[in-house]
Amino acid sequence: MNLRVKVGNFNLPTPVICASGTFGYGEELKGLVNFKNIGAITTKTITPQARAGNPPPRIYETEYGVINSIGLENPGLEGFLEEKLPMLVKLPVKSIISVGGFSQEDYEEIVKRLEDKKIEALEINLSCPNIKMKKMFSQNKELTYNLVKSLRALTKKTLIIKITPEIDDIVEIAKASKEAGADALSLVNTFFALAINIETKKPYLGSIHGGYSSRAIKPLALYKIWQVYKSVDIPIIGGGGIENTNDAIEFFLAGATAISIGTINLVYPNRATDIVKGLKDYMKRKKISDINELRGGMLA
Ligand SMILES: Cc1cc2nc3c(=O)[nH]c(=O)nc-3n(C[C@H](O)[C@H](O)[C@H](O)COP(=O)(O)O)c2cc1C
Repeated sequence: MNLRVKVGNFNLPTPVICASGTFGYGEELKGLVNFKNIGAITTKTITPQARAGNPPPRIYETEYGVINSIGLENPGLEGFLEEKLPMLVKLPVKSIISVGGFSQEDYEEIVKRLEDKKIEALEINLSCPNIKMKKMFSQNKELTYNLVKSLRALTKKTLIIKITPEIDDIVEIAKASKEAGADALSLVNTFFALAINIETKKPYLGSIHGGYSSRAIKPLALYKIWQVYKSVDIPIIGGGGIENTNDAIEFFLAGATAISIGTINLVYPNRATDIVKGLKDYMKRKKISDINELRGGMLA
């Protein structure tokens, strides 16, 4: 039974990836998880300068999902290289470094510094706001194209572009990423969201609004992945609301090459292992010998 998948030139032992911001830098989860079943872990997004993030509270659980406004808290590029990367590369699991910034130069700086490091893949988090345009990078076709093109020239690593779902036409941004040289896409990041305490009349989050994740967004995310799969020939890491094996299978059927699990890691850090086991059971039951056969297999 084959569970290996390829995301660009990046070979993954299983198709289950732990999403950025929900798995720290890997080291924190040592002792709690079985790394063997994880295809790769994606680090928390790093930015050139260290960031303390947004004011608390920064996480609020609603009836159906979770709103977070962490605000890219991270140790910055130097802190990452000194404190996190040495431990990360020793873990028995592949890793993807999530790169963020507020200008094209920010992303370029990080990608240049990582080029000689022992890492195979970068995930470019285009949900960061461009300071000049006051928009997320992936909310604008030109910003996306220019950024990806410049990063492509700087790195031979697998370049995965993570796109916000908060756009009119996700296919347009996916196409711009591919044309500029992306190897793969990561879809989707969180949706904009707000929750208000009716007693205090104040928002629950310190920075008022945040990003919505977890099971509530699954059908919305699935639709975006299917839209892109139909129109752009590029591997997709699909995620958004995946909590169990059945959810994961839906994403493969909609066109994902690999899947990412996020918020559920905060509750069950070993969920990747449960999902891999469930995938094997499903494949056995359906007489599927290769997970890649499932991709785009929705009958419509
Ligand atoms: C607490 C928290 C922190 C996150 N931080 C990041 C981040 O730093 N970079 C990023 O690209 N996505 C970040 N995300 C988004 C997740 O990687 C994922 O794309 C999103 O939550 C949807 O997947 P899920 O519904 O499985 O959580 C974060 C999500 C959560 C819940």
